[in-house]
Amino acid sequence: MLISGEGTNLQALIDAAARGRIRAHVALVVSNRAQARGLERARRAGVEALHLDPAAFADRAAYQAALADALEGRSADLVVLAGFMRILEPPFVRRFAGRMLNIHPSLLPSYRGLDTHERVLAAGEQWHGASVHFVTDELDAGPCVIQYRMAVRPDDTAESLARRVHVGEHVILPRAAGWFVDDRLRLAGGKVMLDGRILDQPVLIEETAGDS
Ligand code: GRF
Repeated sequence: MLISGEGTNLQALIDAAARGRIRAHVALVVSNRAQARGLERARRAGVEALHLDPAAFADRAAYQAALADALEGRSADLVVLAGFMRILEPPFVRRFAGRMLNIHPSLLPSYRGLDTHERVLAAGEQWHGASVHFVTDELDAGPCVIQYRMAVRPDDTAESLARRVHVGEHVILPRAAGWFVDDRLRLAGGKVMLDGRILDQPVLIEETAGDS
């Protein structure tokens, strides 16, 4: 699992695995930032936590090769990006094609990139949410697996949206990871397959009253 920050999505995966909700376990957490709270969460859960400092490598290619080696060294079946704030270049993406998921805080394909909550508010969008997608060469553009959707409320701020989106992220990411490790989810010919059927649309999870 690759992180750069708070690691609440990492925590959701750790908790889901600990509760036996998914037949997976987090084998390794890598962050480009030493102070990422997620590294602390990993250590507390007894998960190997690695700070890989980009400054210690000659260039991005060397860094990403070391990152890939670290992941393959633990024979990771699935790589999960959650708030990993570095662009992964094609050689890295190719090494993990079809077994790398990213969670993004918007209803892709809308609002790729950063500051999604602010942009959704500024645009007066009715809906917002989060998406889990397979990672491809194009940023935040891989085929979507599952989405969490919620109505934007008149009193919402970027902070309240982030909080509500996080609730949904902590549902859909473990679900997608669980499908993958159960061999129910795969990427075939650029298409998402779930239980042997092509997913033309991502699975949609709506916010329920109790969620926020
Ligand atoms: C999440 O909102 C994710 O969608 C985005 O970065 C954030 C990471 O949050 N890519 P956390 O570190 O998992 O709490």
